[in-house]
Amino acid sequence: DTEALVDRYGRVAHDLRVSVTEKCSLRCTYCMPAEGLPAIPREDLLTPAEIGRLVGIGYRAGIRDVRFTGGEPLMRPDLAEIVRRTRAAAPGVRISMTTNAIGLDKRVDELVDAGLDRVNVSLDSIDRRHFAELTRRDRLPQVLAGIQGALGAGLSPVKLNAVLMPETLAGAADLLAWAVEHGCRLRFIEQMPLDADQNWDRDQLVSAERLLDVLGARFDLTPVGREDPSAPAEEWAVDGGPATVGIIASVTRSFCGDCDRTRLTAEGTVRSCLFGNEEVDLRALLRTEGHDDAATDAAIVAAWQGAMWAKPFAHGLDRGAPDTGAIGGPADDPE
Ligand code: GTP
Ligand code: 5AD
Ligand code: SF4
Repeated sequence: DTEALVDRYGRVAHDLRVSVTEKCSLRCTYCMPAEGLPAIPREDLLTPAEIGRLVGIGYRAGIRDVRFTGGEPLMRPDLAEIVRRTRAAAPGVRISMTTNAIGLDKRVDELVDAGLDRVNVSLDSIDRRHFAELTRRDRLPQVLAGIQGALGAGLSPVKLNAVLMPETLAGAADLLAWAVEHGCRLRFIEQMPLDADQNWDRDQLVSAERLLDVLGARFDLTPVGREDPSAPAEEWAVDGGPATVGIIASVTRSFCGDCDRTRLTAEGTVRSCLFGNEEVDLRALLRTEGHDDAATDAAIVAAWQGAMWAKPFAHGLDRGAPDTGAIGGPADDPE
């Protein structure tokens, strides 16, 4: 397929992650500074129509999963319109969202109606005091209401994401018990150096291995592998199943080799990798060439392919190297 979004290592993008805002209703310490991120001027954000157009172009280039992320997607009042445009432009894709679930109960019906298929909810602790410390906001009850709303609307499976930290480790078994009881699929994520405050320290990392020790003391865990080869999570059956728990060992067991992801920022640039710095501006092409013509679509897909060609081979964190220096291909890899 000449239109595919393929990188120089032969990885083909089927999974598109679209950030729709930098805003968030929480301030998780590993993600944002206390004051939040600088606001993006409204006119710089992609509109629902522009998002739909780019998703449609991605769809024709092989994208089969679209995930909305942020910031917090629910901060966009026009999120349902974004989903609707996405569904119209790409009828065959699975549409999901990664959210903190605050306010989701009030909007889930509208979102499902627009075409949303699934949600993953970020939840690091089921202890109200820990939650408030980790997110700098006392909003656990609203999050739990949002999760119940998603379950009530029939969104299934609801996956929960918990970033591993010492506090998460302490409450990990309680969180898993809650997830099992409520029919949610919990995954723990090794913390990556994505925080604005640059406090990440490899020596402080809570690894998948330590988590397994802690969970193993309370639950009987049986490895069941990955949902598919490009899925970031490895899974374990809990107490014989059907409940499972997953671990996304982004740092100690990196999964870059099977990565099938490409990303769009809220401002319409392509990021080929979570850790790549280079961004290719598709919004400029959309807005200067403007109209719904085939030539503009061709220019956009060519620019997107160019961005994917520059995708780094791996983030290199698993070798204990800093995130920037280690990015590169096998050719310049000393190992
Ligand atoms: P599902 O299909 O629902 O399982 O989605 P997902 O797990 O891919 O999506 P989600 O947004 O819930 O991501 C979970 C975590 O996976 C994120 O918080 C990241 O920590 C990690 N992750 C997702 N994409 C990447 C990636 O490209 N690189 C790395 N290193 N980690 C990623
Ligand atoms: N490391 C790992 N996961 C992170 N997330 C946010 N920041 C980090 C980080 N530094 C997670 C959130 C959410 C998902 C989209 O990313 O918890 O579940
Ligand atoms: Fe908001 Fe998610 Fe960042 Fe927490 S991790 S501050 S919920 S965007």
